[in-house]
Amino acid sequence: MTVVVTGASGRTGSRVARAARAAGLTVRAASRSTGFDWTDRSTWPDVLRGATAAYLVHPLDVGAPGTAEAVGDLARTAVGLGVRRLVLLSARGEDRALPTEEALHASGADWTVVRAAWFAQNFGEGPLAEELRRGELVFPAGEVGEPFVDVRDIAEVVVAALTGGERYVGRTLAVTGPRLLSWREAVAEIAAATGRPLVYRAVPARDYGEALAAFGVPPEEAAFLTELFAELLDGRNAHVEDGVRRVLGREPRDFSAFVREEAAAGTWRA
Ligand SMILES: NC(=O)c1ccc[n+]([C@@H]2O[C@H](COP(=O)([O-])OP(=O)(O)OC[C@H]3O[C@@H](n4cnc5c(N)ncnc54)[C@H](OP(=O)(O)O)[C@@H]3O)[C@@H](O)[C@H]2O)c1
Repeated sequence: MTVVVTGASGRTGSRVARAARAAGLTVRAASRSTGFDWTDRSTWPDVLRGATAAYLVHPLDVGAPGTAEAVGDLARTAVGLGVRRLVLLSARGEDRALPTEEALHASGADWTVVRAAWFAQNFGEGPLAEELRRGELVFPAGEVGEPFVDVRDIAEVVVAALTGGERYVGRTLAVTGPRLLSWREAVAEIAAATGRPLVYRAVPARDYGEALAAFGVPPEEAAFLTELFAELLDGRNAHVEDGVRRVLGREPRDFSAFVREEAAAGTWRA
């Protein structure tokens, strides 16, 4: 089985590629560095031709403007080339992501949607990790609880779906970590593990948007993210789901295990 893994150098794609290889699948990595570009349809057929399945992760947010069209077009192209088995990464509780999921449903593919909680790895890779290394995480999450999910669990669920025959076709799987933590509690766990006095500062969504714009995020993207975060962090996602246990037959990895590993690796060293 040859699986096209989009975003293969990113947070989820790299783990999906690893889990797929571990399961004995042949992985075809697809991102700009391997000649695949979501914004250039002429690059799609070469990547898809001859494959059996694909993991689709859009680099912009799954609910961002234009994502539904891109995912729908890519899915139809894949089906046209005989790549029927498609697994899409979506986000839990995100109404704006529904048109993207529906575009996949309408493509004629044998689809599975994996709706993920916030990644634990958001704290260890990218801009939030950079802030933590500087000592303070500023985020518009108030004191809301979120069941942060380890992306390795997402990856294993994706591979189980890809290799599970008909079992997960036409299904939407919600995957979360095992318990709720607020951003303040998450930062406190990282502070305890690193021995550093890390601080979480909750800010209103509007202030966060202004900060993003000041960091050079284009105004439309900053406005989109501000609205999205306000929506996703209003308490609608403050519950755990049993997707990992149902698909993998074990409990999801706990946030504290992620924190221990990353602290030992020096991720948050000043
Ligand atoms: N962060 C969360 O907590 C969370 C939760 C639920 C769902 N999600 C969803 O996760 C998705 C992001 O996934 P991720 O975090 O795994 O990605 P990521 O770490 O941001 O990596 C993006 C990947 O996409 C590739 N890429 C960027 N622009 C591209 C383009 N124009 N064409 C082709 N490939 C491109 C990059 O590689 P190259 O640079 O080589 O192109 C990279 O491999 C979003 O759709 C978001 O809605 C995120």
